[in-house]
Amino acid sequence: MSYQEAYNYATSNPKDFWKEQADRLPWFKKPADIVDTSEQPTGRWFSDGEMNTCYMALDHHVANGRADQVAIHYDSPVSNTKSSLTYAQLLEKVALFAGALRAKGVDTGDRVVIYMPMVMEAAVAMLACSRLGAIHSVVFGGFAAAELAVRIDDAKPKVVVTSSCGIEVAKVIPYKPLLDAALDLATHKVDAVVLLQRPQLAADMQAGRDFDWNDVVAEAVPAEAVPVKSSDPLYVLYTSGTTGKPKGVVRDNGGHAVALNYTMKAIYGMDAGDVFWAASDVGWVVGHSYIVYGPLIAGCTSILYEGKPVMTPDAGAFWRMIEEYKVKAIFSAPTAFRAIKKEDPNGELLKKYDLSSLVTVFMAGERLDPPTYEWAKEIIGRPVVDHWWQTETGWSICANPVGLDDLPAKPGSSTVPIPGYDLHILSDDGQPLQANEKGNIALKLPMPPGFLLGVWGDPQRLHDSYLADFPGYYTSGDGGYRDEDGYVYIMGRTDDVINIAGHRLSTGEMEEVVGDHPLVAECAVVGIHDELKGQMPLALVLLKAGAESTDDVLVKELAAMLRAKIGPIAVMKNAHIVQRLPKTRSGKILRKIIRNIANGEDYIVPSTIDDPASLDEIAELIAPKS
Ligand code: COA
Ligand code: AMP
Repeated sequence: MSYQEAYNYATSNPKDFWKEQADRLPWFKKPADIVDTSEQPTGRWFSDGEMNTCYMALDHHVANGRADQVAIHYDSPVSNTKSSLTYAQLLEKVALFAGALRAKGVDTGDRVVIYMPMVMEAAVAMLACSRLGAIHSVVFGGFAAAELAVRIDDAKPKVVVTSSCGIEVAKVIPYKPLLDAALDLATHKVDAVVLLQRPQLAADMQAGRDFDWNDVVAEAVPAEAVPVKSSDPLYVLYTSGTTGKPKGVVRDNGGHAVALNYTMKAIYGMDAGDVFWAASDVGWVVGHSYIVYGPLIAGCTSILYEGKPVMTPDAGAFWRMIEEYKVKAIFSAPTAFRAIKKEDPNGELLKKYDLSSLVTVFMAGERLDPPTYEWAKEIIGRPVVDHWWQTETGWSICANPVGLDDLPAKPGSSTVPIPGYDLHILSDDGQPLQANEKGNIALKLPMPPGFLLGVWGDPQRLHDSYLADFPGYYTSGDGGYRDEDGYVYIMGRTDDVINIAGHRLSTGEMEEVVGDHPLVAECAVVGIHDELKGQMPLALVLLKAGAESTDDVLVKELAAMLRAKIGPIAVMKNAHIVQRLPKTRSGKILRKIIRNIANGEDYIVPSTIDDPASLDEIAELIAPKS
């Protein structure tokens, strides 16, 4: 079926389209009810089906000829370690760890927070939770204790699974003190902490609460896969929204499995037995979908890489991995390729490796800027696919679906909507826009399988955050346009979310931290363009009456505060003290215009502006100097 045929089929007859996809998976009880929109307009998929995600990812393959195929390669240049687990070996480890979690009281529906670096045990812990029908919530290792505490208080886990340390290039990052601090800050009390001691650093254990991974596994009885309903939650993954409180995106089991299995072939062109490498982190949605669940459900070999694109040891790291594991498709973020380009602009290191296994390069997390696209295509000599997606959707909304068709690529475009997504460009007042007109990217309801079930603990937030702006549509929060051929161009967020080096963060949350500085009366934080990291935050700060500081002093203090409260990934290098902030007469800070000025973009001064001269003052400070 061509892309166009598949797209038309999924749009005109979603039930049959997705039923066919569901039929490819091993359900315990096949669903008869394909999509139900009675309870929520986004849709609940396969709600009467029964299954287990871990069973689909492991047991099914072990029983059907893949027992000895490698399920996951672990490659850690930072710890000088490599290992590989076959499907049979991974299943054995997962079943035992599931038994260990059960022995600590974890049952179907209970939450488990996983705060781990990129080690094999992170994937084992995730799969073990899904085996029990428990709900995992993985927290990215680059978040600080306060962020971890917020997530613990929201998810209310019975158990936290962690590790003694992470390793960032050559730095050993102690995780346990961060977790201890988070558990002190949180009001929720956990029953147990299960900790993997790594040889690089031994963690202190609290008797009665903390248990060694190896000890709990040694005593465990392997657990069988527990049947769950398709729409029972598989995981909660917190993501930054416009406010300081992260949103707990809840993902179901059945819709998620069906969608991921479909995308492995349709988008990525992968067949069972192929090697797929998502060079991301299990703490992000890309890691959930394409390091752990997608490749395993599809019977592929996946790779868990504890390293960077550069520095571990050099900018040839990605090429070494592709050669060593015979990677067919790699998926990473444009920022990673920009980092490689900076170190090795002519691809000299790449020439040392055999990339003959590689068929396609996929990038996401931020817009793939045309210069990086052209560079990567040229030096790698393979099709490079920009594809657009979000934690909320769990898989890509737009892509060049190489498993379906051979569509020509256009630099700067993430190509076309994938079957299942009915994409529209709407004006701010909800009117459809014409080709090449920029607007809000909205998706007509219902959403395809795998879309978020809701926001954990806050059912109303699904409606308020995503469905209220344009009735009948999901508001993506991204802006862009379609050209005359229907190609989609994503131009950036229309809200207060920014992406720093592929890490999604909230400027609203940063404003809360900046606002806590003792000298700061008021502030605005916006995302500005950055050559390497895509975006970086810029703070404009109004000091309290009588307070004195300088930009240089303030930016260091603010950077330290952001690091301590949000985490090291919230890097800040730009802050300016201003005399006034541009505002409307009703007092709303004109953040979008500040962003436009800082990025050298056109803007219209609203008639509601209180003091037009305030724009000149900030333009002097932040407009790009040509
Ligand atoms: N645990 C602890 N600390 C972490 C961390 C983690 N999991 N991840 C990042 N950090 C720290 C880094 O060590 C660094 O700390 P430092 O300021 O003390 O040096 C800080 O957070 C910023 O890290 P990062 O944003 O990764 O920047 P970098 O300059 O170290 O590396 C890149 C730049 C481009 C190489 C790197 O960001 C990268 O590989 N990005 C790709 C991201 C990605 O794949 N995203 C998923 C989307 S598909
Ligand atoms: P996350 O939820 O962390 O995956 O971040 C999702 C956000 O990242 C999207 O809303 C976009 O703003 C941005 N994003 C992801 N992929 C792309 C892409 N291919 N092009 C442009 N922006 C992207």
